[in-house]
Amino acid sequence: MNAKFTSLKTRLIVHFSVVILVGAALYVIFGVRLIGTTVIRQAQDKVKLDLNTAREVYRGEIATLKQTVRLTAERFFLRDSIQNGERHTLLAELERIRRRESLDMLNLTDGEGRVIVKTQRPGVYGDRLERDTVDWAITHKTAAASTQVIPGEILEKEGTAIAEQARVKVIDTPRAYPRPAAAPGEERAGMVIGAAAPIFDRGGALTGVLCGETLLNHGYSMVDKVKAIVFKGEKYKGKDIGTVTVFLKDLRISTNVCTSDGKRAVGTRVSRDVYNRVLVEGLPWTGRAFVVNGWYITAYEPLRNLAGEIVGILYVGVLEAPYIDLKNRVIFYFFGITLLCVVLLIGTAYFTAARTTRPLNALTRAAGKVAHGDLDYRVPVESGDETGQLSEAFNRMTADLEKMTEGYRELNRTLENRIEEKSMELEEARDRLVQSEKLSGLGKMAAGVAHEINNPLTSILINAHLLKEELNAEPRFAENLKIIVDETARCASIVKDLLAFSRQTPPRIVSGDIRPVVEKAVLLLKNQASLQKVTVFNESAAGLPNVKMDAGKIEQVFTNIILNALDAMPGGGGLFITTGLTGDRFIAVTFRDEGCGIPAKVLTKVFDPFFTTKGVKGTGLGLSVSYGIVEQHGGRMDIRSEEGKGTTVTVYLPFK
Ligand SMILES: Nc1ncnc2c1ncn2[C@@H]1O[C@H](COP(=O)(O)OP(=O)(O)O)[C@@H](O)[C@H]1O
Ligand SMILES: [Mg+2]
Repeated sequence: MNAKFTSLKTRLIVHFSVVILVGAALYVIFGVRLIGTTVIRQAQDKVKLDLNTAREVYRGEIATLKQTVRLTAERFFLRDSIQNGERHTLLAELERIRRRESLDMLNLTDGEGRVIVKTQRPGVYGDRLERDTVDWAITHKTAAASTQVIPGEILEKEGTAIAEQARVKVIDTPRAYPRPAAAPGEERAGMVIGAAAPIFDRGGALTGVLCGETLLNHGYSMVDKVKAIVFKGEKYKGKDIGTVTVFLKDLRISTNVCTSDGKRAVGTRVSRDVYNRVLVEGLPWTGRAFVVNGWYITAYEPLRNLAGEIVGILYVGVLEAPYIDLKNRVIFYFFGITLLCVVLLIGTAYFTAARTTRPLNALTRAAGKVAHGDLDYRVPVESGDETGQLSEAFNRMTADLEKMTEGYRELNRTLENRIEEKSMELEEARDRLVQSEKLSGLGKMAAGVAHEINNPLTSILINAHLLKEELNAEPRFAENLKIIVDETARCASIVKDLLAFSRQTPPRIVSGDIRPVVEKAVLLLKNQASLQKVTVFNESAAGLPNVKMDAGKIEQVFTNIILNALDAMPGGGGLFITTGLTGDRFIAVTFRDEGCGIPAKVLTKVFDPFFTTKGVKGTGLGLSVSYGIVEQHGGRMDIRSEEGKGTTVTVYLPFK
């Protein structure tokens, strides 16, 4: 693989992966944001609800106080004791009520607001009780209740214990609203929830006002009650989930937020942001804030006095940690699932790419194999889709190619065979041509010689006969004369043969059956054969097509062949003669003997004129003459032999 070539599979995987990873990244970024905002918003909504609940509980407390004070004010003993000026009775009774109702202050005034009984300081009376609620009860002749801030110097009239409880040491708080340099290091004013109810005599005239109050500075029953109702003691990792605080202006005076040493965090101040929004603008504030020792999701809202002025803040805070943990857990699972999806998707992409490209690779390999000549090779077809179809098409193509190649090979083989056949035929034809040329040359010469010798020979023979008759009585010459006559006769026979060979008269062709010709030749030599103990098996078949031939000449051919066979079997044997058809043009007459056979190197010469192995007894013309005759008929002769086993001579004659 070089630098420019990147496989299709790799490219597919890379592209898929890029898309998947980018998608996953976007998904994670937006998902995490969404989770974060959703969880935080949910927490904030919860805090707002908690603040609502806290406010209701706070108001409920005020309402309960109002109810208590009003019901007490309506009791007859109060009315009567005021009328009768029974201060001691009132003092004892009111102190008992104060304790029972867990009030910090319970004061009774006359119709002008002057103190009659101060439960905390029995000896003090006659002063005006400076309270908004009391003024309200005198003016409106109904009960009133609210949050109220009582300045330090007024509060001192309630005794040192109350004044002491109200005292809150201001602690420097970062990010709080700056306090004037001259401001004292502690707060002496007290914040109370208070209620006042008018007391009427029998005639309905206002004779007094009962005023009950609970001091919030360093007083925790109120905030703890709100907390218990709103958060029901829920904890997270040992910490209270929810906290409630009451502020006097911006100063924390009552709270269940604890510092790290377990003390209530009284004396710290609210942040500048909250100060501006809640104390200045009079609006609720919700948000994340670090409160004393941890992060909280917080909600603040203003506390107002009877006149509607903002005097403090009610605060509710929920520990942020559970929400952060929840958020983290959700994000963790979210990440995990996303990662799993990414892995699955990339895995799927990998397998898809591999599956898609595998057939292509197989095709490439197959193309290589086919190019190297392996036409049997087939690609496995794995699917019915486009790649599968491509593989099938490739296989079909290869099969066609194989067929075509096989066709060419076959053609090649046929051509080679044909060429071989043709060259053999040509060779044979050339041999025949050479043979017939030899024959015709020799024939001419032989004709000349024979013609010249014939006449003298005839006169020698005639004269030899004459001499024989003349000298018949003379036995001395009889022997010699017989030799002359015989030898001359033999010469004449050779000359006759030569003439027959050379004459080559055109044959007189007549159409006829070959079988009688064979039979005649056999009959002619039957005696000689039986003398030699040779058995002739004439198996020539009947019903062969007629041959156009010169029957006399063909008979001469057969005679020559049979004579040679007899010569080859001096000790007897079998001669088998068969006839039959070869191909659709020739009749074949076969002579098979069981004679001595012909050595291979002699076999090529047997058709040559004058070639003989029989010495003076042979002329060497038999086969060459026969060859000439057969050729004149448009046929041919064939001789096969195995030395020591026998010889087969076949004569082919055309019948068409
Ligand atoms: N059937 C045969 N068996 C063995 N040799 C044969 C046969 N026919 C022919 N020949 C051989 O072929 C030679 C030539 O035969 P031919 O032309 O008939 O002449 P000749 O018979 O006068 O010798 C023979 O001398 C002989 O050697
Ligand atoms: Mg012969």
